[in-house]
Amino acid sequence: MPRLALALAVAAAAVGGRAVWMHASAEAPRAPVTFSDTIAPIVFDHCVTCHRPGEAAPFPLMSYDDVAKHATTIAAVTASRLMPPWRAAHDGPEFVGERRLTDEQIAAIAEWVRQGMPKGDPARLPPLPKFTEGWQLGAPDLVLEMPETFDVPADGPDIYRNFAIPTGLTEDKWVRAIEFRPGARRVVHHALFSYVRGGSTASLSRDGRPGFSGMMPVAFVPGFAPSGDLGGWAVGATPRFLPDGLAWPLAKGSDFVLQLHLHPTGKAEHERSRIGLYFTPTAPERKFREMGAPGLFGFLAGIDIPPGEKHYELKGTFNVFANMRAYAVIAHAHYLGKAIKAVATFPDKTTKTLLWIPDWNFNWQDRYFYKTPVDLPKGTKVDVTIVYDNSADNPNNPCNPPRRVQWGFQSFDEMGGVRFLTVAASDADEAAIQQMTAAVAKALANQIANSDTAKRLKEQQEQLMSKVGETSASPCGSVAPGNELFHPPTGIRK
Ligand code: HEC
Repeated sequence: MPRLALALAVAAAAVGGRAVWMHASAEAPRAPVTFSDTIAPIVFDHCVTCHRPGEAAPFPLMSYDDVAKHATTIAAVTASRLMPPWRAAHDGPEFVGERRLTDEQIAAIAEWVRQGMPKGDPARLPPLPKFTEGWQLGAPDLVLEMPETFDVPADGPDIYRNFAIPTGLTEDKWVRAIEFRPGARRVVHHALFSYVRGGSTASLSRDGRPGFSGMMPVAFVPGFAPSGDLGGWAVGATPRFLPDGLAWPLAKGSDFVLQLHLHPTGKAEHERSRIGLYFTPTAPERKFREMGAPGLFGFLAGIDIPPGEKHYELKGTFNVFANMRAYAVIAHAHYLGKAIKAVATFPDKTTKTLLWIPDWNFNWQDRYFYKTPVDLPKGTKVDVTIVYDNSADNPNNPCNPPRRVQWGFQSFDEMGGVRFLTVAASDADEAAIQQMTAAVAKALANQIANSDTAKRLKEQQEQLMSKVGETSASPCGSVAPGNELFHPPTGIRK
């Protein structure tokens, strides 16, 4: 940040002559750091989007007093890079809207705290950023709203709740952006969007409250077709139009399914989210597809993590069978996920990291759009590794003591996958992809039917289906009395 560099340079020049008596040691002189000149610009640029009234963060950071009150914690969480939140490694590929402070900014915050948090000249305080009220992308073409309010108690376990909202569409549409507006911002941690055939999920609502519970990726359940994924939202996300004229298909007569991760705030909240859809009248030139590994979020990979296992690896490879271009990458795992990596090996044997999340946190599920889309020529191999920690040392482990964990839809089961939003590079590649996906779908249908996971799920189906609509009770099997409710940590801290 030029302003900071300038402030430090000027200040350093001013105190340079005093260095001799300030520190007899070889340490460089420390320039004064003030709130007005150095700290406010950092906080206003990188923190206020979430740390202001009505947004997700627990306290505002809008004035000297706000920041001074939390100064020591701020120094700690910026030094450890927990804040601003961003899970992808900063030395990996470059993504749009990356949240990150430079080393100099982090050092300046630490130095400001060390110097006793000088205020500086109030006249030099920069103005607070202006935030657009209402829809950030302008008036949507279609606004959907949860038909009823969902009540979230003051405390208790996190809640995963799905709401099927009829779109009322009488023709197929192409969606180029979705803007999500939670009603109670403090309580909604993240949201996933998809669509299913109208009315197909109705039987899943069984506990008398609006919606149905669980983490089922409804877009991938064959019985709900026509269906599809429509992206998602996480705290602090900036709504954007898809790049390069891309668009998601949305079938007529479908229900929009909103899956909310709700985190009780200490005060009873009433959530009623609204969703703005932005259509494009023309079909995109090429279809937008999600591909990756392991397939079906690890359904066929036989995830089976023994209790106490600190380092369980799930691996998968995505063999690129036509020339494609990847626009974005999405990673998924539940609470035991620890690290996620995807590396491409190109036909010429060079490699490139496509995603590296060294410290996965379920609460911060971003969709990462590449600054420059990545070309994946035919013959490229993308290797995905997901590491899980099912030991009692994992503070995010929903079960203590840990229990055996297998693939499943509930938050205390596991899944894992890295998927890329891709398009074919040419018409010939598009044709090859269509052919291949049809063949793969057929082969998969067989594999799924004969898989151990399917057999296990079938055995549990009665039990599972009777639970799907309910709030989960005792996920950890026999657990110590008083510990039977699943209390995932709020945790930005690990
Ligand atoms: C994308 C939204 C977002 C941004 C940007 C953001 N924060 Fe936060 N911050 C949060 C949320 C949400 C929490 C509460 C975390 C939780 O409870 O899981 C939080 C918590 C904190 C905490 C409390 C940590 C603790 O353990 O008590 C501090 C301190 C903090 N943020 C400082 C900052 C600073 C400084 C910046 C800018 C450099 C920043 N945050 C940017 C969303 C954000």
